[in-house]
Amino acid sequence: MPLSVLVTRATFPDIADRLRAHFEVDDNPSDAVWSPAELRARLRGKTGAMTTGSERIDAALLDACPELEAVCNVGVGYNNVDVEACTKRGVLVTNTPDVLTETTADYGFALMMATARRIAESERFLRRGEWTKTGIYDMFVGSDIHRATLGILGMGRIGQAIARRGALGFGMEVIYHNRSRLAPEVEAACGARYVDKAALLREADHLVLVVPYSPGSHHAIGAPELAQMKSAATLTNIARGGVVDDAALVAALRERRIAAAGLDVFEGEPALHPGLLELTNVVLTPHIGSASVSTRRAMAMLTVDNLIAALGAGPDAGRPPTPVNPEVLARRRPHS
Ligand code: 8YV
Repeated sequence: MPLSVLVTRATFPDIADRLRAHFEVDDNPSDAVWSPAELRARLRGKTGAMTTGSERIDAALLDACPELEAVCNVGVGYNNVDVEACTKRGVLVTNTPDVLTETTADYGFALMMATARRIAESERFLRRGEWTKTGIYDMFVGSDIHRATLGILGMGRIGQAIARRGALGFGMEVIYHNRSRLAPEVEAACGARYVDKAALLREADHLVLVVPYSPGSHHAIGAPELAQMKSAATLTNIARGGVVDDAALVAALRERRIAAAGLDVFEGEPALHPGLLELTNVVLTPHIGSASVSTRRAMAMLTVDNLIAALGAGPDAGRPPTPVNPEVLARRRPHS
């Protein structure tokens, strides 16, 4: 009997067909959002799963699904998966690094620019029919990107790609803070200078967050951090909800303690802090940082490659390309 896998959300049909060549596939072409109980019921008896950031994979769910061997997540971030609980139970976790780096960096830059130059706010004004004269000094004057100081919190692949855009494309002074400092040649290649977090907050004209979510980065930007930023600064979050204390941000934006924010991710998304919707100085988008057709296809392809290989099929059987907890592979018995 072929092994069974679950595909939790709608994906590209031709890419899902690659799974059908090896496994029995239970999928979700209507893209319904399943409750945790429904997810548990569908995952029972499955050997593998292609998941997204919307599904929480925790110890209780793993215990209810003892046949599960691989959780292949569509996304570079995998804070929706309890990796430690997976590793303990011999469940392999994979993610999709690299394929989304440049697309997500493009988006971070676009959101930062839209925020600094007040693009969304001015478009809403125009659509409301309020454009009756061209203002010179008072009409949506924003702040410059070129030659400004770009601050980056989290200097992994996406952070470095944003730094390159800023330094090489826009002549920005780029500073960053990260858990560990980059090698000098990597810093030189992306034109970035390491600073401590206090200097990052104090000096950035535009602060972009690209740090993975973990208990250690929870509310990395809260009221005390916002208080250290320039009043003319912008904040852009393309990392994860929870890295910013959204309630503190709403208060800071309302009181103009910082100029504006661009947010693609939110605490408790798809729900938003209601205060955000009342503000004009914020650009809000629904977690679309990696959403170009070619990148979303590449992410789905890589996830399917991972799932096929993780379950011992295809040309890379037993060698999934991007494991998060490869130590699980070493302890595996091959499928008969
Ligand atoms: C995904 C993301 O769309 O890669 C990530 O970490 O946040 C996005 O690219 C999201 O994880 C949905 O699975």
